Amino acid sequence: MDMKSAIVGLINQAIGAAFPGADAPVTDAMLEVPPDAALGDYAFPCFRLSKQLRMAPPKIAQALAERIDAPDIATVTCVGGYLNFFFNRRNFAEHTLDAIAAQPDRWGSSQEGAGRTVCLDYSSVNIAKRFHIGHLPSTVIGNSLKRIYDFLGYTTVGINHLGDWGTQFGKMIAAYKHWGDEDMIASGSVQALQDLYVRFHREAEDDPTLEEEGRAWFRRIEEGDAEAMRIFEAFKDMTLKDVERVYDILDVRFDHYTGESFYNDKMDRVVNELRDKGLLTESEGAWVVDLEPYGMPPCLILKRDGATLYATRDIAAALYRKETYDFSRSLYVVAYQQDLHFRQVFKVIELMGYPWAKDLVHVAFGMVSYEGQAFSTRAGNVLYLDDLLARAQEKALDIIREKSPDLEDKNTVARQVGVGALVFSALYNSRIKDVDFWWDRALNFDGETGPYVQYTHARCCSVLRKADEISATPDHEALTDDEAQALLRMLSRFPEAVRDAAARYEPSAVTRAVTEIAKAYNKYYYEHRILDGDNGQTAARVLLTRVVRDVIRTGLGLIGIHAPERM
Ligand code: ARG
Repeated sequence: MDMKSAIVGLINQAIGAAFPGADAPVTDAMLEVPPDAALGDYAFPCFRLSKQLRMAPPKIAQALAERIDAPDIATVTCVGGYLNFFFNRRNFAEHTLDAIAAQPDRWGSSQEGAGRTVCLDYSSVNIAKRFHIGHLPSTVIGNSLKRIYDFLGYTTVGINHLGDWGTQFGKMIAAYKHWGDEDMIASGSVQALQDLYVRFHREAEDDPTLEEEGRAWFRRIEEGDAEAMRIFEAFKDMTLKDVERVYDILDVRFDHYTGESFYNDKMDRVVNELRDKGLLTESEGAWVVDLEPYGMPPCLILKRDGATLYATRDIAAALYRKETYDFSRSLYVVAYQQDLHFRQVFKVIELMGYPWAKDLVHVAFGMVSYEGQAFSTRAGNVLYLDDLLARAQEKALDIIREKSPDLEDKNTVARQVGVGALVFSALYNSRIKDVDFWWDRALNFDGETGPYVQYTHARCCSVLRKADEISATPDHEALTDDEAQALLRMLSRFPEAVRDAAARYEPSAVTRAVTEIAKAYNKYYYEHRILDGDNGQTAARVLLTRVVRDVIRTGLGLIGIHAPERM
């Protein structure tokens, strides 16, 4: 039983005893964690009760304190209108360690999501473009949220909504016909595809017939013409092979690669439904949904030439996902720049009369920059993910060679550490903040970084290897010092961090929690000898080390980072 609920139970009992007839059930959310542990492990503010009971908060606190007596609570004090609870430290250590040890790999998991489905649209890269750093946050935030929801018992559906439709693909085929060849396709180089596109635009400035050729090729894609499809599919295959390499390194998976083109045969239905529901209005030959009453520009549904748009496809995709997966929540992990797009799409779905429009959530994130520089494809200032990952691994390898020359399989560990550094820095701050990536910071083994947390995990593993033959029964009295208690408090609250991350779509809650646990363990490690013979004290400290290892590994797993046993 967790201490928070136990305390809430005690408070409610005391209220019942001190103020019969009071109808003020206290809930978990009303307990606070004091800013300083010296003020107690939990605090209950009595201010809320004071109106109902017509009594000053300090008096209420006093009356309740007198009626609380439980073996797990060492003392209760009254300060101002607060009731402060101090745990019985020995019991708290025992309960916490027992609870975690009972499910070492699943501490913080639950079945709260049982029977409910969450769809997650993330990464969603574009065909014929290399995977650049702008797609990193979506990829890692989505991946982490999927893992977190799985852990909480939800059924999750991971969707890569590929950008695989649009007139640019007609232009690409035209360019390919002029300047490309089969060898280029065989080489699998997405860079070559990107270069084709750039060349198309350069040459089209002098030769306007190119644009017409591009349009003609796009019409052939729309008609399903064999040659156009063969080339288009080849472009798609090349891109997917390329991004899948990156997904493998990042350990990111999808249940479906249903991109924009997947909805080609589902467009008519959307357009007809919008028309039948009286939502379409004509505007300069195009068809739109007027959103003026909601303070937004119109949502463009059909272009003048009858072509559908990004928004039309997103409406079709939302309907398809609801009908196919019957989600309770459908998330779109996409950059903040698309905020208006999603607000428009969600509003249109609401206007279509679908009450589940309220379950659509744009999980937005801020801009990514690199060592202080913003990215811009146009300015040629782009950073590709495979280059970045290769560099991360290389840099990590340098550090490992220097710090642990004898380590086996350095390359694997270097990959896990390099990738960990990158992922961690993308998930450490709340997602709406801009991410500025700096090597020195990210690969630091001492700061608040991925390698630091991984290193702490490896440290625990090393202690446990040495502790192999300890057979004494743990004496929990050995864990009543401040450092052990601070650590235990964080471990016991880890499940709250996981729930919080899911509720706010904020993996950083988990990143922060594991970082705090790592820091608290290192502090403990420096102030206490863990291995000191075969006695109850050592056994207790080893047990603490074991659960720290397990919870860190779980937490890193939830944000998509490996936890090597040696570094
Ligand atoms: N491909 C788009 C881009 O790179 C992101 C797609 C996001 N998902 C969606 N359902 N619109 O900007």
